[in-house]
Amino acid sequence: METLQKYPKDPEFVQDPYPFYDRARALGPFFRWQDYDLVCTGNAAAVNAIFRDRRFGREPVIPPAVPPHLAPFYAVEAHSMLELEPPRHTRLRNLVLRAFTSRRIAGLAPDVTALATELAEALPAGEVDLLQAFAQPLPVRIIARLLGVPEEMAPDLLRWSNAMVGMYMAGRTRQMEDRATTATGAFVAFLRSYIDERRARPADDLITQLIAAEMEGERLSSDELISTCILLLNAGHEATVHTIGNGVKTLLETGTPPDALAPGAVETTVEEILRFDPALHMFTRWAYEEVEVMGQTFRRGDQVGLLLGAANRDPGVWDRPNHFLPGRPAKPHASFGAGLHFCVGAPLARLELKISLPILFQRHPNLRLASAPLYADVYHFHGLQQLLVTI
Ligand code: HEM
Repeated sequence: METLQKYPKDPEFVQDPYPFYDRARALGPFFRWQDYDLVCTGNAAAVNAIFRDRRFGREPVIPPAVPPHLAPFYAVEAHSMLELEPPRHTRLRNLVLRAFTSRRIAGLAPDVTALATELAEALPAGEVDLLQAFAQPLPVRIIARLLGVPEEMAPDLLRWSNAMVGMYMAGRTRQMEDRATTATGAFVAFLRSYIDERRARPADDLITQLIAAEMEGERLSSDELISTCILLLNAGHEATVHTIGNGVKTLLETGTPPDALAPGAVETTVEEILRFDPALHMFTRWAYEEVEVMGQTFRRGDQVGLLLGAANRDPGVWDRPNHFLPGRPAKPHASFGAGLHFCVGAPLARLELKISLPILFQRHPNLRLASAPLYADVYHFHGLQQLLVTI
């Protein structure tokens, strides 16, 4: 197995990680990424196989020691379905899925349409940061509504979530850790008092359903309820914001004609946006026993990095993978993961993209990039710093 060196904060890599992925993938299914000291794969078949293989999972074999200043953050993670494996994962995920029915998601379409229209119409003439004015508020306000959290909390939700995801970034500093811990404390305090308040005020929202599951006894503890709300609120917008941002950038840079967003065409365009420039690039798994995948042996306790952005451009699966082809017949990509932890919010994210992009481009047919957009130095996240456009 080859070893490759690439500092994930290298400015060239941050702006365009795909040449590195191509180089790594060409060496074989697996390579050692020296900077992470981690065996990684950008091979689509290997990524998919490991996501689906129950001999791998997200819960570490040996739980890492948690320094006291990070205890509040990991106390929340300890009850997050994303960090758990069966049987706890199954129980928490089923509770959420029961509330996240396809009917409820489809029922959000009028809300998403109204909000996207309102935001698109409110864009000022001249130059504007579309990330702040459109891509951010849409998913935050929709997930707040779905959960039943006041929409006025959107700025706090954004701030807390931004601080918390700092824990997953390359080159994490003590300052980032302290920000994440402070944000976790504020988020938990808000939810504790808000949930108490909401016990007496049931409504047709997810928090009410989750509170009911908690009150019925053993099915959901208070800590699990809080962690689940935080997970949904954070995961419910971070990646969608940046998929909208990356998507608009790609559509404008490639001069994609508006008919790619017409009814009947928009679904495949959205899948191509998700494939071509995903917002999340790496997830890891632990091996729970000795496993061989495409000639590579993992021992119990070994970790492996799955490079979603690389898998999505695997020439073994995709024709001309480095080209954005909105009419490309949709095929499964890795952007939402696969297997047990497959993204719970994928139908909601797809709905938001499918509705908001056509509205934005219909209202603003002269939308142009005002300057070349730059990605933020936030790997394994892959999203823009800002998206300056002229209307
Ligand atoms: C374009 C937007 C999104 C992308 C690219 C995305 C991506 C992902 C990925 C890759 C995973 C799996 C991680 C792993 O297997 O290790 C995941 C899990 C998850 N996502 Fe999303 N997501 C998006 C939107 C959303 C939304 C809108 C919600 C909530 C409403 C959401 C909620 C979740 C949850 C709860 C999990 C954990 C599932 C589990 O552990 O069983 N995501 N997401």
